[in-house]
Amino acid sequence: MKDQAEGLRRLVRKQEHASRIIAVTSGKGGVGKTNLATNLALALCQMKHRVVLIDVDLGLANVDIVLGITPPFNLGHVFRGEKSLQEVIVDGPLGLKILSGGSGITDLANLNGWRLEVFIKSLEQLNREFDFVILDTGAGIHRSVLSFVLAATEVLVVTTPEPTAITDAYGLLKIVHQQSPEAKVRLIVNMAKNPNEAEVVADKLNSVLREYVEWEVEYVGYILQESQLAKAVSDQQPVLLAFPSAMSSRSFKRIAGTLAGEAVQAAPNGIKGFFSKVHDFLKTQ
Ligand SMILES: Nc1ncnc2c1ncn2[C@@H]1O[C@H](COP(=O)(O)OP(=O)(O)O)[C@@H](O)[C@H]1O
Ligand SMILES: [Mg+2]
Repeated sequence: MKDQAEGLRRLVRKQEHASRIIAVTSGKGGVGKTNLATNLALALCQMKHRVVLIDVDLGLANVDIVLGITPPFNLGHVFRGEKSLQEVIVDGPLGLKILSGGSGITDLANLNGWRLEVFIKSLEQLNREFDFVILDTGAGIHRSVLSFVLAATEVLVVTTPEPTAITDAYGLLKIVHQQSPEAKVRLIVNMAKNPNEAEVVADKLNSVLREYVEWEVEYVGYILQESQLAKAVSDQQPVLLAFPSAMSSRSFKRIAGTLAGEAVQAAPNGIKGFFSKVHDFLKTQ
């Protein structure tokens, strides 16, 4: 009897929908994380996936700027019990949902007792509502960034062909692989002059990773340096919507297609498990 009940429970758990959680990060700042996270999220929406974009960069309010949307509330309001999670999530284009971490991110470490329970419980619903959670993180290996990266099951590392960006990407990739060997880690080269330059960057990184870490990162694509993307940013519009046929827009769509087409296991316990992990990382380090 007991075995049967356990078997049933396992079956129910298996059928529960869980989101894929993808952290977009980089070693060096200003390499194009926010543009990638936002346009990738929108390209996935175009493919009829249900997507929430979460801005967890403690630095600049990034996603707001690329989308020209200023969410009035952030996770801090949820942590302080002033707003529910549903009230903080705002609507973006194409059905995209946006959640701003804001200054609330630092409060996550101090969240305890029933407040933490209420928050974790409210995440359960998000699990059922979304196929993809895209996290726009800060740059570097500070624990406020790394906690999110290491808690994610999928990580997209962005670099440019600039030597300092490559060096910092190497440092980050090494840490992520060593501390989170199960994670699916992928590389994107942004602001390349041509596809060949991007490939050389990926090869260079992989030859160093092979030598010192005995591991290789999966190179999933490039975005070229493009004036239309820069113009879209200054107009506070995602390039995918402002210039749908621009080269960069096509690259974002191609990358989204690759990611969506891969059979990747959803995050264990989805968004709930993810935030519990981030909380633990932030607390214990
Ligand atoms: N492929 C590209 N072509 C031209 N400019 C780009 C490209 N990617 C990013 N940029 C420019 O670089 C700047 C930084 O991009 P952003 O996505 O905010 O980086 P991050 O989030 O890593 O700090 C933006 O102002 C944008 O105009
Ligand atoms: Mg950014």
